Amino acid sequence: MKRISTRHLIGIKNITEADIQLIFETADNFKEVINRPIKKVPSLRDITVANLFFESSTRTRVSFELAEKRLSADTVNFSASSSSVSKGETLLDTVNNILAMKVDMVVMRHPAPGACVYLAGRIPANIINAGDGTHEHPTQALLDAFSIREKLGDVAGKKVAIIGDILHSRVALSNVFCLLKLGAKVRVCGPPTLIPKYYAELGVEVSYDVQETLRWCDVANVLRIQMERQDIRFFPSLREYHQYFGITREMLDRLDREIVVMHPGPINRGVELTSDVADSKQSIILTQVENGVAIRMAVLYLLAAQRG
Ligand code: CP
Repeated sequence: MKRISTRHLIGIKNITEADIQLIFETADNFKEVINRPIKKVPSLRDITVANLFFESSTRTRVSFELAEKRLSADTVNFSASSSSVSKGETLLDTVNNILAMKVDMVVMRHPAPGACVYLAGRIPANIINAGDGTHEHPTQALLDAFSIREKLGDVAGKKVAIIGDILHSRVALSNVFCLLKLGAKVRVCGPPTLIPKYYAELGVEVSYDVQETLRWCDVANVLRIQMERQDIRFFPSLREYHQYFGITREMLDRLDREIVVMHPGPINRGVELTSDVADSKQSIILTQVENGVAIRMAVLYLLAAQRG
């Protein structure tokens, strides 16, 4: 059996192209499994996974829980708002108390960038980053690239534009690392105030012109404006953002070919894209969500194999 090169999945930056291809091959098999009438395999029946969510989530949380159940793992779910974190308990104490109950793997979403790295050096369980602040969201990038591969046959050589609030997006950073490792050409596009200067040094193109970017790309991965992470104004109003950077049906109709539209969710309809784009046949937004379960099954399975 081929093995992944890491014990934790903290970010895409620290894994290899071979790891990504192995995750995809494993996810191909699990996608076939979850489309069978009996969607369950016994692969992780001796493993207990704790899902620790210190920040809100719909897709990632449900997807990980389903992936664990499909693999026959025991699962325990934790959300910060109803826990003793609200009484002042530290992250490390909280996690060590949960691990004392014989938990093998931890899936964690946390608002602090680096929270998973911090834990990885201090606890014996495998850790999967389910999104740490504005840093990385590795399983989202994996399912995004897997969905591009499924739709277009390959990721290598494809032109992928990531459009929107790049500054506050962990999805953008993980996507850039993943797509570049797989040989895609990557461009980020949005208002100058929402594109950090260091992106130019990552090996991606930077553009502030959405219509020209749509003409350039094969795939447009559209990101939402993360108002909850903005303590100052980066643009005058959501209405103005939509006017200059929102993707509309008319903009897609002006192109001479059909591009693929993606979005990691949650969507702010009428801001970064309109409903007739989100719900169009060019959109693979719900396929991304479907693929999230197979990708997360693959990651859990491959990391569990590292337990020896
Ligand atoms: N894409 C994503 O991370 O969605 P959730 O915040 O709902 O998990």
